[in-house]
Amino acid sequence: MTVKIGLLGLGTVGSGLVTILSEQAAKFQSQLGQSVSVKSALVHNLDKKRPGVPGTITLTDQVDDILTDPDIQIIVEVAGGIEPTDQWLKKALENGKAVVTANKDLIASKGQELIALAEEKQLPLRYEAAVAGGIPILTNLDNYYFSDQITGLAGIVNGTTNYILSQMANKGLAYETALKQAQELGFAESDPTNDVAGIDAAYKAIILARTVYGLDLTLEDFHIEGIEAITPFDIEALDQLKMTTKLLFEIRELDDRHYQVQVAPAALSKSNLLASIENETNAIAIESKNLGTSLFAGPGAGGRATAQAVLADIVAIIQGQKQALPSIQKDYQLKQPAKQAHVFVLAGTGNNFEKSDLVEEGSSFQAKDGRYYEAILTSALTAKQYSNFKAELSQKASLVKEFTCYS
Ligand SMILES: NC(=O)c1ccc[n+]([C@@H]2O[C@H](COP(=O)([O-])OP(=O)(O)OC[C@H]3O[C@@H](n4cnc5c(N)ncnc54)[C@H](OP(=O)(O)O)[C@@H]3O)[C@@H](O)[C@H]2O)c1
Repeated sequence: MTVKIGLLGLGTVGSGLVTILSEQAAKFQSQLGQSVSVKSALVHNLDKKRPGVPGTITLTDQVDDILTDPDIQIIVEVAGGIEPTDQWLKKALENGKAVVTANKDLIASKGQELIALAEEKQLPLRYEAAVAGGIPILTNLDNYYFSDQITGLAGIVNGTTNYILSQMANKGLAYETALKQAQELGFAESDPTNDVAGIDAAYKAIILARTVYGLDLTLEDFHIEGIEAITPFDIEALDQLKMTTKLLFEIRELDDRHYQVQVAPAALSKSNLLASIENETNAIAIESKNLGTSLFAGPGAGGRATAQAVLADIVAIIQGQKQALPSIQKDYQLKQPAKQAHVFVLAGTGNNFEKSDLVEEGSSFQAKDGRYYEAILTSALTAKQYSNFKAELSQKASLVKEFTCYS
């Protein structure tokens, strides 16, 4: 028997999928007992040359040719964008087809509706490729962690920003230079706004928070800060404390009704495993009751890695794996953790960093600009301690920068 796929999109990910399918054809046949083939693919431009795409795949620019084809069992959406892809996937489910998508923008924005429709129709809707394409994170959260209790997740889910911050830290590049380099190497898009402003990472955090805790979040719900304001000076100051900065998403269960969700450049110790994740690599640290902290790392994007995640979903559907997708809707509130550590950077040297209950560590240093500064790492502070301490520091010296710490 042959499982027929209808591909919506035949760009970087779609053509990667076609390549891997042809490489693995014999294994699929012998080990799954079925062959898998792409019957047709939706494209914008029918005249575009598509080397490596077999002539057996019918190309169309009419989505209904695929969505209403009774031969096609699985629709794979790798076109991108929220509209009209949302309508396409609804129609696919209405027409009784299983759906796989790599589209994080869509799943973050319209996932709840699509999941509800898939549940109503008793059809699989899978989107492993939508979060950190090359890391099998959703499958693990759904299956392996089902019997565990996850208390928090954090990580690097945007390769572009991690590349930029790594180049700034390791080569002393300015933000603009590192961004330009990322664009030249194909790690950043010509309009990098979604990446550098933290929106792409926030989309992935929304999907993870829904998967793990059943939270129904939108971008407006939580604090999102990008990396545009990070300077080589910030990295130099954090270095004094043996720390660095990464654009991290953080999702924490404070108790069974209160959660913290944010995307921001956080200060973290260089000894933290996430600090060692360089360049375009992604990593997600999961804290759970039974395992403690586990780190998943791998390529966050790329045609082959993302197509691999899409194919893993296709195989799961063929094998009839049931998803533990959350249809849980619960009352919850977002709030800040009770205590957080901070880094303050002050101009001048006023010896403000004597160790105390509030101050863990400090360092006076002469920066590359020739001026003197102090970098102070606090212990975990309550909101009140934080505002009192900050007010006290601001009276003594001018506060140049501050970071919230991840630990
Ligand atoms: N690339 C990655 O590394 C990566 C990683 C993770 C997730 N993703 C996600 O995967 C999806 C696809 O990404 P990609 O990099 O493969 O994109 P891409 O290279 O731009 O390919 C998009 C494909 O969709 C077709 N298409 C788009 N809109 C269409 C429309 N309205 N009608 C008909 N055809 C349309 C395009 O047709 P033409 O070929 O005719 O232009 C093209 O074949 C996106 O949701 C992206 O966020 C990508």
